[in-house]
Amino acid sequence: MLLDAEATDEIGLPLVRGPFTTLDQARSAIEAARSGPAPTSTLADRIAAMPQASKARGRAKDTADGKSGTARGRRDEAPAPTRAPRPPRIELRDFQAGDGSALRALWADAGLEPERGDDQSLEAFAKRNPGLLVVATADGEIVSSALAGWDGRRGQIYEVATARAHRRNGFATRLVRRLEGRLRALGCANVNVTLPDDDDAARKFWAALGYEPSAARELGKAL
Ligand SMILES: CC(C)(COP(=O)(O)OP(=O)(O)OC[C@H]1O[C@@H](n2cnc3c(N)ncnc32)[C@H](O)[C@@H]1OP(=O)(O)O)[C@@H](O)C(=O)NCCC(=O)NCCS
Repeated sequence: MLLDAEATDEIGLPLVRGPFTTLDQARSAIEAARSGPAPTSTLADRIAAMPQASKARGRAKDTADGKSGTARGRRDEAPAPTRAPRPPRIELRDFQAGDGSALRALWADAGLEPERGDDQSLEAFAKRNPGLLVVATADGEIVSSALAGWDGRRGQIYEVATARAHRRNGFATRLVRRLEGRLRALGCANVNVTLPDDDDAARKFWAALGYEPSAARELGKAL
């Protein structure tokens, strides 16, 4: 049954309207629409033929909205499907020469003050501990870091930080797990991390990863 005389919908696609009595009838109507001449939308003609009053209403609202008449015409159509924002491209990778300034900015924002965070020290540390300086990037920007050292007896993890906007997304967990795997492969059986007493969030983070308070008190001396 044909409901009206239009051959296309608003965006110019062939219009096939049922109901059809049999499936074969529906198929042949679709086939006819597909194989017929290229359809052309009549939307512009129909807008031009709209009664003046309804066009004026549209223009008045557009002026109030600060929108153009053309934009209003578009808004009268079915709303465009909203596209979900594209998730960032995440990469976990090893430290590279040139990462220094992004890392220092990340650490400063996270309240960390590494003793040897200059480019030369970072590159020397990476050379002594290959594969044990890892970062996570989101769309190419460094958003999380974790460093480890292995002296042949114990492993030590340093500078675990995640940019504020990317926290609670598992970045630090993935980097620490990667370091643990690499330390284990080197023969490291125990790993330590030092954290300030009063940092509740950091304590909860390490507890979530299975790190327990150690009975040993840490002492230090400047050489
Ligand atoms: C601690 C820190 C590195 C965590 O980074 P992150 O990428 O957000 O951590 P994750 O998303 O991998 O968190 C894993 C789990 O740790 C726990 N956790 C992490 N941050 C937490 C917080 N602020 N409060 C409570 N629990 C927390 C949660 O159990 C979390 O799992 P969930 O999100 O499924 O609940 C980050 O908050 C940070 O950079 N802090 C400032 C620097 C710092 O303190 N570093 C540690 C130095 S010792």
